[in-house]
Amino acid sequence: MTDAHAAPRGVGVVVVAAGSGSRLGAGVPKAFVPLAGRPLLAWALEAVVRVEGLGSLVVVAPPALSDPEAAAWAGVALPRGARVVAGGAERSASVAAGLAALDPTCDLILVHDAARCLTPVAVFDRVVEAVRAGHVGVVPGVPVVDTVKAVDDRGLVTSTPDRSSLRAVQTPQGFRRDVLEAAHAGGAGATDDAALVEALGHRVLVVDGDSRAFKVTTVDDLAHAERLVGGPGYT
Ligand code: CTP
Ligand code: MG
Repeated sequence: MTDAHAAPRGVGVVVVAAGSGSRLGAGVPKAFVPLAGRPLLAWALEAVVRVEGLGSLVVVAPPALSDPEAAAWAGVALPRGARVVAGGAERSASVAAGLAALDPTCDLILVHDAARCLTPVAVFDRVVEAVRAGHVGVVPGVPVVDTVKAVDDRGLVTSTPDRSSLRAVQTPQGFRRDVLEAAHAGGAGATDDAALVEALGHRVLVVDGDSRAFKVTTVDDLAHAERLVGGPGYT
C-alpha cells in the first residue's frame, strides 16, 4: 500500500561515515580505512555520484574528521557541491545531522552506509524508482540463507520464523522526505531508518538488494571486499 501523495523529485543523499569501526579495529574510523589503496568512503561515493536525479549530497563524518582537508581524506574526491557535517554518537544521530544539512528542495532522501562501499548504483536506482512510484519508504533486501531462531535470555529457542518471509536489509534506504523527518523527530535507537518509519505506521517496501551491498564490519569483510575489487568489474 502507498500513501496518496505526489511522487517526490530531487534526490538528496546522506552518506553516514561517522562510525569508529570498533569491530574492524583498524585504528582509524572505518570510512577512512583503505580498500585497494582508497578509503571505503571513496568507493562508496563512486556509486552515489552516479545516482539518477542526484540533487544534494551530505557526508556525515566523525567530528575530528569533518574537515575534508584532513589528511585522512586523501584519496576521497568530494563531489562538487557536497557538504560534510559532523556525526553523532549513534548512527541515528548521524543520519539526523545529515538530513538537516541537505538542500531543502530535495524531497526524496536516500540514507546510505559508507561501510556498504561496493553497493552497485543499480540498487540506488531501484530504490529511487520505487519511492518515485509512490512508496514512502523503500529498502533493498536479500533472502536470508540461514535458518533464523528467536531465543530467550537463556538461549532457549522461542520460535523459528519462516525463512521464506525474511529479508536481510541493506542500504541505501529511500524515503519521502517529510516521512523520514517525522520518523527521526519521533525517535531514535533503531538499527535502521526504515524501522523508525514503520513505527509511525507506514508500510515499507523491500526491493531487490545485491550481495555486493554487504556491510564491511570485520577484518574478514574487508578481505572479501579486497577480493571483489580485484576481480572483474571493479578495475
Ligand atoms: N555510523 C555513523 N555514526 C555513528 C555510527 C555509525 O555515521 N555514530 C555509520 C558508520 O560510519 C557506517 C554505518 O553507520 O557507515 C553503519 O554502522 P556500523 O557498520 O556499525 O559502523 P561503525 O559504527 O563505525 O562500526 P562498529 O559498530 O564496529 O564500531
Ligand atoms: Mg556501529
